Amino acid sequence: MARMARKPEPRGVVRRLRPSEFTLFRDHLMRLDAGSRRDRFNGAASDAFLKDYAARSFSQGATVVGYVENGHVLGAAELHERPESDPPTAEIAFSVEKALQHRGLGSQLFQRLIAHARALGYTQLRVTTHPHNDAMRALARRFNARLSFEKGETVGHIDLEPASQSDAELSAVYLPALAAGALSMQ
Ligand SMILES: CC(C)(COP(=O)(O)OP(=O)(O)OC[C@H]1O[C@@H](n2cnc3c(N)ncnc32)[C@H](O)[C@@H]1OP(=O)(O)O)[C@@H](O)C(=O)NCCC(=O)NCCS
Repeated sequence: MARMARKPEPRGVVRRLRPSEFTLFRDHLMRLDAGSRRDRFNGAASDAFLKDYAARSFSQGATVVGYVENGHVLGAAELHERPESDPPTAEIAFSVEKALQHRGLGSQLFQRLIAHARALGYTQLRVTTHPHNDAMRALARRFNARLSFEKGETVGHIDLEPASQSDAELSAVYLPALAAGALSMQ
């Protein structure tokens, strides 16, 4: 009997994208297959829209965390401030390219995005998707989102504990790497 081939482990890194890397984010969004594009943007999204969206995300100060492999961004998590909301609230969104979905990358991106959100002082996160997006609903549940149904969309709310020290969460992420000599400080 033929054995099922196991999917190889993702070998890239999850890290925040630098401002100069907005084109890598744009190219990632443009590589999303039609179904993933629809799921991500709750409807059709043209190439022109995605180009503008990627540029706007960076120029308006969104935090974008990427899964980066061989100089390409193959997955992303976005944190967009909702300045009109009180307490400090951000809208979050996720995208993983088809070939890499269902291997835990969405969860890794989510975890890192929460660390950035806490370090920035957000206490509420909001994620919206269409009601049939089972993958996003599972991902949101995994991070204890309260899911509700609003105007034909599924909306997830996540309450964050304020960070006790502003950089506590990010230190937890980066210090082990520093200790292992993977990063150097100047
Ligand atoms: C949603 C998305 C980011 C999830 O990324 P991923 O890397 O596949 O997620 P993970 O592998 O970490 O899986 C997270 C959870 O979703 C579940 N899941 C993943 N794909 C699934 C699918 N197609 N159907 C049902 N559940 C699925 C996993 O089993 C896991 O659940 P668990 O924690 O209960 O085991 C990815 O499917 C995607 O990019 N979709 C297109 C864009 C999109 O829908 N974005 C969300 C709107 S903002």
